[in-house]
Amino acid sequence: MKLEFPKGFLWGAATSSHQVEGNNHNDWTEWEKENAERLSKESDGKYPPENYISGRACDHYNRFREDFDIAKSLNHNAHRFSIEWSRVEPEEGKWDEKEIEHYRQVIAALRERGIEPFVTLWHWTIPVWFRDKGGWASKKSPEYFKRFSERMVKEFPDIDFWITLNEPDDIYSIFAYLKGKFPPGEKSILKTIIVLKNLVAGHNAAYVAIRDKNPRAMVGFANNTIYFESQGLISTVFKVFANAFWNFWFLRKTLKHCDFIGCNYYHHNRLKGFKYNQNENNVTSDVGWEICPAGIYHVLKSLKKYNKPIYITENGIADSSDANREKFIKEHLRWTHKAISEGVDVRGYLYWSLLDNFEWSSGFWPRFGLVDVDYKTLERRIRQSAWAYAKIVKENSLEV
Ligand code: BGC
Repeated sequence: MKLEFPKGFLWGAATSSHQVEGNNHNDWTEWEKENAERLSKESDGKYPPENYISGRACDHYNRFREDFDIAKSLNHNAHRFSIEWSRVEPEEGKWDEKEIEHYRQVIAALRERGIEPFVTLWHWTIPVWFRDKGGWASKKSPEYFKRFSERMVKEFPDIDFWITLNEPDDIYSIFAYLKGKFPPGEKSILKTIIVLKNLVAGHNAAYVAIRDKNPRAMVGFANNTIYFESQGLISTVFKVFANAFWNFWFLRKTLKHCDFIGCNYYHHNRLKGFKYNQNENNVTSDVGWEICPAGIYHVLKSLKKYNKPIYITENGIADSSDANREKFIKEHLRWTHKAISEGVDVRGYLYWSLLDNFEWSSGFWPRFGLVDVDYKTLERRIRQSAWAYAKIVKENSLEV
């Protein structure tokens, strides 16, 4: 049987600047240098300090055309990437025209290949000057972000899909300000609350700025959406709170300023009583995350009430052997299709990621790519699963 996807469905993959470009200078590059030794030790020496330094990454900054040729050969008609804020505004209020021109070329390269750009304005890294002013904890952060967004939309008026922020609440605020696992490495409830508030204000301000310059634009943010599963009364009540905080809080705060919902889906979380993370973990990825394709259906259904178009802005698996990726994609698409057939307005799917890349505080070892990257030679090799996905894209349907 063939499961047809809606006409005009957008298919592709996603990346983010810091994870693929190479040679950035931002808050992360500095944090990596300070923490690489510690992270290597914490891995019991399994991964050397170099694993934790983004360095030249995939050199996508110089090889984007070649990478987009690959995306085209895989039939992709959409691609999500992020603009590296620290490149275009390396000093406060000073714009680097050369870097702006770089992203103009990136967008042109996508268009020339018939690939629709989804532009993310902020995927976690910030310029050092902004970090020094307190980053997202600074009162003026929404203003700084608005100024950056305004400039970008002015430079790139033909972009129709803007993603302001990537996973602002969970993952970013929690990891950077509560768990201390991402820069600036804080562990403060108060700061987390302040940062969340500023991110909401930042998104809303950027939305107004973008729509003001380009009323046609569709603007949203990428929400990390977790499938909470409950068993029994207590955990069902707990689930209401878990959903309200982890999945819907940021969305509710920004709903009037979202033209679509960006849904990133990776996680299933089984609740038992008041306990979190009671997963069976029968099938996991290389990073130990349980694979739960049905979860994408549940989260999509739970987003239906907001009555907005939904784009799956990330979904992917760390799988270096490529033994499970094809099945992973197909199963997630089967459940996505079920949600669509029950009236959820899903309009696109962007696999994470086009290339293997720098996986934040885990470094280079997890392999999420449709395309394998040899970090010594920077050679790209298209994985078998990428071809299986390419067939689905070409036919706009999934054979089950
Ligand atoms: C992030 C990506 C990351 C992926 C896999 C998402 O939370 O947006 O940057 O690489 O998860 O961990």
